[in-house]
Amino acid sequence: MSIYSRRQFLGGMGALGAAAAYPGAWATSATPSGLSTDEVLGLEAQTTGFSNPLRLPGTSGLFGVLPATDFKEVHVVRSEIEVLPGQRTPVLAYAVESGGKTFLNPALLARQGDQMRVKLVNRIDQPTVIHWHGLSVDSRNDGNGLHVVAPGQQMEYAFTVRDRSSMYWYHPHAHGMIPQQAYHGLASLLFVEDDDEAALRKELALALGESEIPLVLQDKEFDAQGRLQYTPSPAQSFGGWVGSRLMVNLTERPVLKAERRIVRFRLLNGSNARSYRLAFLQQGRALGFYLAGTDGGLLAQPVRIDQTFLSPGQRLDVLVDFREAQAGRPVTMASLPFDPMHQEGGHDMGAMDHSQHGAVHGAAAPAAMAMEGDARALMRIDLAPSGTPYDRRLPARLSSLAAPLEPGGTPRRMRLGHDDQGHWTINGGVFDHATVALTVQRGARATWLIENAERSMPHPMHLHGFSFRVLERLGSPDQIRPLAGARGLLPQDLGVVDTLQVWPGESVKVAIDFSHPHSGDQDYVFHCHTLEHAEAGMMLRYQVKA
Ligand code: C2O
Ligand code: CU
Ligand code: CU
Repeated sequence: MSIYSRRQFLGGMGALGAAAAYPGAWATSATPSGLSTDEVLGLEAQTTGFSNPLRLPGTSGLFGVLPATDFKEVHVVRSEIEVLPGQRTPVLAYAVESGGKTFLNPALLARQGDQMRVKLVNRIDQPTVIHWHGLSVDSRNDGNGLHVVAPGQQMEYAFTVRDRSSMYWYHPHAHGMIPQQAYHGLASLLFVEDDDEAALRKELALALGESEIPLVLQDKEFDAQGRLQYTPSPAQSFGGWVGSRLMVNLTERPVLKAERRIVRFRLLNGSNARSYRLAFLQQGRALGFYLAGTDGGLLAQPVRIDQTFLSPGQRLDVLVDFREAQAGRPVTMASLPFDPMHQEGGHDMGAMDHSQHGAVHGAAAPAAMAMEGDARALMRIDLAPSGTPYDRRLPARLSSLAAPLEPGGTPRRMRLGHDDQGHWTINGGVFDHATVALTVQRGARATWLIENAERSMPHPMHLHGFSFRVLERLGSPDQIRPLAGARGLLPQDLGVVDTLQVWPGESVKVAIDFSHPHSGDQDYVFHCHTLEHAEAGMMLRYQVKA
């Protein structure tokens, strides 16, 4: 941690622990989590030079919005886009032709019940496959990498979108290629709309790209020509690749103009390995906001918070009422400092990464060596008065989501660890795509206890095929406990999730319903969404027996 020492940071957390009740109880005026007003002001000051308009979903091109039923083919291609102003960056992309227009990495719109029929055409020189992250589809359409599409080959997807309203995403899943291909650009969004979702959009008068903004958080490295660098050292191949250049929707140092009204942000952490501790800051203070939904859609009620962690693979649906902010002053979306807890096997991976970044950047200024957990501004939001009078209020009820049922029986233990040969393990095993490591019965309601080792790294564990509910969090570290309520649960644990951050020393109990409408045995994977960890073994194949 370059700006705040770990000691300073933990000291701050201690003080917070005494003050915090349940998340949501915090006053809008408080400085967040033991940061001094000066530290918050310092974070806000980082945005002074921000000047690039945030890339927004348009009607074509990169990130264009496209109904999921309006195209027949998606081509995986090499392309070039302007990521950094004035430079062409070679990328990998999903290219789609529709209605005479070309889309790159389109943001897809689907309605619950839609039939997706799309042919993947692999036009790059590596195997690839599309995985629809968070959608509950049969194993053939899941694109989990047990079958991949060779260069020049094709694959047909055909499935019904059965999931709740939410922002899902799609990305590659050919084992051995996942971190490189995702990092080089293969990732985009898929929105599913149901009746609750339509009601909320109407109630708050939300319009995608205006008052409803998808935000994809990523961290990259570039060379002087603007080419993406992905050159993990052995330690980074194990610990995770963290870039020093933070991007929102592939915009570095972005500015968003927003009206003083309720604005909805739909966040995806699309980074390979970096987590963020998200907050909205103005004039030395944290602006309270509302968590409205998680990976798998809307919560039952909005929960007021002033910060939240966001781990690789996770999505959050957040409502900020900018009428609570002061007019005429910008708001900063930031990642607050935290301890990344890179403490695998007794040595501090964080410290190790620091020296390596030093080597990568040579004589670069310390600011360019910022690491995971450092205080970083992500985006400046310039506020303008609402053009039309806005008097909408947040609804008290967002969806009919029921409290999770707790199945009886002894939970199945899923132990996260590592061996001494540089592999991450689940229950002592390293991923083997040919081996079914675990079977469950179709229709079973199971509890899993996901246990992370004490000296370890955080692992955002992701289940294919089924989203799940979080029942209890035990043994949370000092920086997490103050954010938790009953049973140690964080606000984001109250929703439907498909990716769950498990911090070192934690045991998290989850409930999974393995019911599905598909016929035959179904094969899926369960893995860490720190993409390098998955490649280094932290993935297992499981089978749902018909
Ligand atoms: Cu988003 Cu298997 O992953
Ligand atoms: Cu997935
Ligand atoms: Cu991991």
